[in-house]
Amino acid sequence: MRMQGKRAVVTAGASGMGRAGARLFAQNGASVAVVDVNAEATAEVVAGIEAEGGKATGIVADLSRPEECRRIIAEAAEALGGIDALWSHAGTPGPTEVEGIDLEQYDFSVALNLTSALVCAGEVASHMRAAGGGAILFTSSVGGLVGSMMSPVYSAVKFGIVGFTQSLAQRFAVDRIRVNAVCPGPVETPMLPFFMNRNVDEAGKEANLARIMAAVPLGRLAQPEEIAHAALWLLSDDASYVTGVALPVDGGYVAR
Ligand SMILES: NC(=O)c1ccc[n+]([C@@H]2O[C@H](COP(=O)([O-])OP(=O)(O)OC[C@H]3O[C@@H](n4cnc5c(N)ncnc54)[C@H](O)[C@@H]3O)[C@@H](O)[C@H]2O)c1
Repeated sequence: MRMQGKRAVVTAGASGMGRAGARLFAQNGASVAVVDVNAEATAEVVAGIEAEGGKATGIVADLSRPEECRRIIAEAAEALGGIDALWSHAGTPGPTEVEGIDLEQYDFSVALNLTSALVCAGEVASHMRAAGGGAILFTSSVGGLVGSMMSPVYSAVKFGIVGFTQSLAQRFAVDRIRVNAVCPGPVETPMLPFFMNRNVDEAGKEANLARIMAAVPLGRLAQPEEIAHAALWLLSDDASYVTGVALPVDGGYVAR
């Protein structure tokens, strides 16, 4: 029961790592606001948590819009009676091109990965201050720690998340708010094939997967629950002296 009595918000909580995190936090005693653009999947996650005896509420929002980020924090605080923990997990791969880049796609990637993280963190700070402290977790990536030839935009926004993590950790320390990031390697979620196979034909897909596996010393993809356990630790009081950290959970990818 590592999050007993905590009130937690998870964005992009209706699938993959976010869903695994929302479930794990509830299993560990938290009441959880699950935020996602997919209404049906959000309702399913909430129902699943409640069926296990946990407490959850669903909030549907498009987090690429800053006003929606503001709304979900206010609504979550109202529904949960305050906020102690935020996992700002929403993100998107973005465009691969450099020459001829589609700047609308670029703007969307910046909005969903970076702006949403900053606005959610800014909005949640006053609630955590009122609670006497709290913990914020962002989702970066291994692409936020080393450059990516295939995904320069994704890499840049995820480096940006690490910049926010180190900066906000210093800024909010006086309020006893810890700020960390998790940096997953390849995780078996619906986003992974979409990420890997942008601009790749059928024949290239298998080679792509083999190339990614070869780059992971543990030789396999992560399961969403393996990232959720790191999130649980970083958001719980077990990590009470940990702030400003960008933690790779990557099967050794950045250690090569
Ligand atoms: N899967 C990986 O290999 C991997 C690796 C490193 C980092 N990440 C990061 O993890 C996060 C994605 O998580 P996942 O892999 O668990 O993905 P996923 O595909 O399982 O889930 C993504 C969720 O985001 C929601 N979503 C999409 N657009 C949204 C919007 N505009 N507003 C609100 N919600 C929206 C979807 O409905 C979905 O529920 C992203 O930040 C991504 O950059 C993923």
